[in-house]
Amino acid sequence: MPAKGRSRQSWSGAVSGESKVHSPDEVSLEAQTRAQSGIGEFDRVLGGGLVPGSVVLLGGDPGIGKSTLLLQALTGLAGQGVAPGLYVTGEESLSQVMGRAQRLGLPIEGLRLLAETRLEQVLGLVEREQPKLLIIDSVQTLYTDTLESAPGGVAQVRECAAQLVRYAKRTGTGLFLVGHVTKEGSLAGPRVLEHMVDTVLYFESEETSRYRIVRAVKNRFGTANELGLFAMTERGLREVSNPSAIFLTRHDQDVAGSTVMVTREGTRPLLLEVQALVDDSTLATPRRVCVGFEPNRLAMLLAVMHRHAGVSSHGQDVFLNVVGGVRVSETGADLPVVLSVLSSLKDRPLLRRTVVFGEIGLGGEVRPVPNGEERLREAAKHGFERAIVPAGNAPRKAPGDIQVIAINKLDEVFNHLH
Ligand code: TYD
Ligand code: MG
Repeated sequence: MPAKGRSRQSWSGAVSGESKVHSPDEVSLEAQTRAQSGIGEFDRVLGGGLVPGSVVLLGGDPGIGKSTLLLQALTGLAGQGVAPGLYVTGEESLSQVMGRAQRLGLPIEGLRLLAETRLEQVLGLVEREQPKLLIIDSVQTLYTDTLESAPGGVAQVRECAAQLVRYAKRTGTGLFLVGHVTKEGSLAGPRVLEHMVDTVLYFESEETSRYRIVRAVKNRFGTANELGLFAMTERGLREVSNPSAIFLTRHDQDVAGSTVMVTREGTRPLLLEVQALVDDSTLATPRRVCVGFEPNRLAMLLAVMHRHAGVSSHGQDVFLNVVGGVRVSETGADLPVVLSVLSSLKDRPLLRRTVVFGEIGLGGEVRPVPNGEERLREAAKHGFERAIVPAGNAPRKAPGDIQVIAINKLDEVFNHLH
């Protein structure tokens, strides 16, 4: 297998496979030739398009839209010269795949399909056909004759993926592996493949939501945690071009327990509502339930609230929900979470048209987060009038008409509830 980063790969040229030691001046720093699918949000999570020879794992619950997205990407990329593309289906029949392509109104002239689950057959055929793009839907349905274990098991999934990755690297073929997220406790989910691939994308929204979120959990060719936002339609996934405020609902009245935060996932700000419900518990160990937020982080924040602001949630159940199905992974959500909890506990709403962000330390100090000004600009753009932020993020001149309230310590936030 040629060493990564050394082999010359392009969507038009071949890959050099011979092995040789190089000195720094022999290494050419060519810009990666990326191919765009034309689906902006998809290209965005990939880091600006698909790099030749790159291997992408796309994971998600059954029925969330993996096959649909890749079929759209395949035809999109074909339009940009990444052709032929081969779609290998191990789950659905050829007529099901074609039926979907037609329903979505995709340009299917160049589409090549293969219904196959034996790895050796797939590899034999791709050697002959030499597609530039190969989609395996799904890697869990493949099996190799060299192993005796059943398809879908860890050993089979790993071995099949390893051979396909080797093929992709050797030939410069773009490879997408679809992986179902299996129920907890089952090991053969896509997680066992994460270290073998360049990019890991996961669908993270709820199936009931109108929107679909794809997160780059890992990306050797782009920013990790970048989000791609899509709306589900009859004609497939449509990119959401201005997604920063799509998950916000306008409340007519002040609502206790609700805070709007400006978070930053990947490379852009996102306005999200975080809701808390704090209620008397009947249990010996009260419940802490989180949707879209790390439960251990909530436990830590509750401890900090108790220790440094004298607010006790002992004997209280705490439910936390980030509206829209987005999983918030950055510390800028700390302050909004605390404010929502406090607001629900005291049954006092936050001042209206206010956004919040900031990290909280174990000493009760409110720490600055990256890209503060950008977050403030985004909030001002969406008509917010006030921002409660760490003092370290307060700009000399606030963007737009937004009033910036800078705080240093956790207990100062009390002043900003009704
Ligand atoms: P599918 O792509 O088959 O999900 P997965 O491959 O992850 O199991 O999508 C499930 C169904 O939803 C399928 O019948 C197509 C339909 N669908 C739409 O109609 N519009 C959309 O935007 C998406 C994503 C799916
Ligand atoms: Mg599918």
